[in-house]
Amino acid sequence: MDRVIIFDTTLRDGEQAAGGTLNVKEKLDIARALERLRVDVIEAGMPINSQAEFEAVCQIAREVRTPIICALARAVAGDIDRAGEALKGAARPRIHVFISSSDIHLAHQLRKSRLEILEIARSMVARAKKYVDDVEFSPMDASRSEPDYLYHILEAVIDAGATTVNIPDTVGYAIPAEFGKLIEGILKNVPNISRAVISVHCHNDLGLAVANSLEAVRHGARQVECTINGIGERAGNASLEEVIMAIKTRHDLFDLTTNVDTTQIYRTSRLVSELTGFPVQPNKAIVGANAFVHQSGIHQDGVIKMPITYEIIDPKTVGVPSSSLVLGKLSGRHAFKERLAELGYGLSEDDFERAFGAFKLLAEKKKEITDKDIESLVAEERRTISEIYHLDRIQVTCGDRGIPTAAVRLTGPDGKILADAALGTGPVDAVYKAINRLVGVTNKLTEFSVKSVTEGIDAIGEVLIRIESDGVTYTGRGADTDVIVASAKAYMNALNRLLSVRKASG
Ligand code: KIV
Ligand code: ZN
Repeated sequence: MDRVIIFDTTLRDGEQAAGGTLNVKEKLDIARALERLRVDVIEAGMPINSQAEFEAVCQIAREVRTPIICALARAVAGDIDRAGEALKGAARPRIHVFISSSDIHLAHQLRKSRLEILEIARSMVARAKKYVDDVEFSPMDASRSEPDYLYHILEAVIDAGATTVNIPDTVGYAIPAEFGKLIEGILKNVPNISRAVISVHCHNDLGLAVANSLEAVRHGARQVECTINGIGERAGNASLEEVIMAIKTRHDLFDLTTNVDTTQIYRTSRLVSELTGFPVQPNKAIVGANAFVHQSGIHQDGVIKMPITYEIIDPKTVGVPSSSLVLGKLSGRHAFKERLAELGYGLSEDDFERAFGAFKLLAEKKKEITDKDIESLVAEERRTISEIYHLDRIQVTCGDRGIPTAAVRLTGPDGKILADAALGTGPVDAVYKAINRLVGVTNKLTEFSVKSVTEGIDAIGEVLIRIESDGVTYTGRGADTDVIVASAKAYMNALNRLLSVRKASG
């Protein structure tokens, strides 16, 4: 097979990253973006985890029809039955069953013998097979498992009907040469391996997740599990955009392809960053703000003469917007629509009208509106779509002598208007206290940061916050030319996420 199957686990392993909680609507938005990106498989979640996660998998299965929709399950009957139920509406369902195979996990976590684990794996794959034809099996911590035992367990699950066998480097311990050899060993020593696709799932604890995945591909793996922006448990997973662009850019070496539409990469990366609240580091390969910026004079000179001198990827290939046309208060509906289209946004009529209204308001306050302003504005509009409480008005007084005071008016459930005021140690504290009096959800603010979207005194300020409630972290973002208003919006965004997750969990 000369094509690598791209299995995206942003919505499962990616969402497992501390503080990355997404609500059902956000997961669906990401799943649709992944479908546009043309990944082959979307791992939508682990339905046994919660009612909300079950709902998210059901909805994605019903509405996202082109890729395979996969649900994760431990090798436990209840997990598999729940996964089977969540996938009922899917056009192309897959159940992914996992159980640990390393002696470390067997001795200290599962407290079971190798034989017991092998039997459980075999019987649970057979159980999943009753729900779907497409069953994937993962021996967790495979890279620290004894290879001969690994071969046996893989042979058994393939006999039981697994059509993909995934080799996870669960703790990010492997080194590329060694991981490549492991894949080679599986190909040589598992007698029925030709009946299954070999997949890999690498974590980034040593910064080697992409290198390990690529080495595995060079040795015969034909599915790579990865996430947008490399988000995931601890140090994250292999970054989808890096894996894809390595295979594409070094086609001379790999001689392989993927189905992915690379022009959707940048846009999907922004969406995932926006919805999870995980910023992309500026020097991040492929999607970082500096990935295509040439700073040194020598490099600039080369790129002007011929881009290939210092640029191995044309930024257009990954969908980085090519021009930085500036709009302003005289720009009309048509120019705004065109710019949105160039940036990759296909908004519905209603969403376009809302975004255009916000653009006009912004143009009153800010002379030049750049692509980054437009992205921030569309993101802000998107955030307000599924709100339970909406920030209607806010008024703050503060200064070095006065007592910071905030008055806040919200629209609550059923359109009810709610208003209150509070004093605080600073303006943001006062605003948050006033909102707390109205919404009444106990939580702790764990992170607060402000950044400006563009340069200039009239720039939009973007606030990112994280709050914790009952041991779960929720992220909120808000943008406005006034940073206090942006802080209030970010807090409302985090509270709305918290409330919608609680509502979905019953
Ligand atoms: O890292 C891991 O081992 C996993 C498995 C569930 C595949 O995420
Ligand atoms: Zn993982």
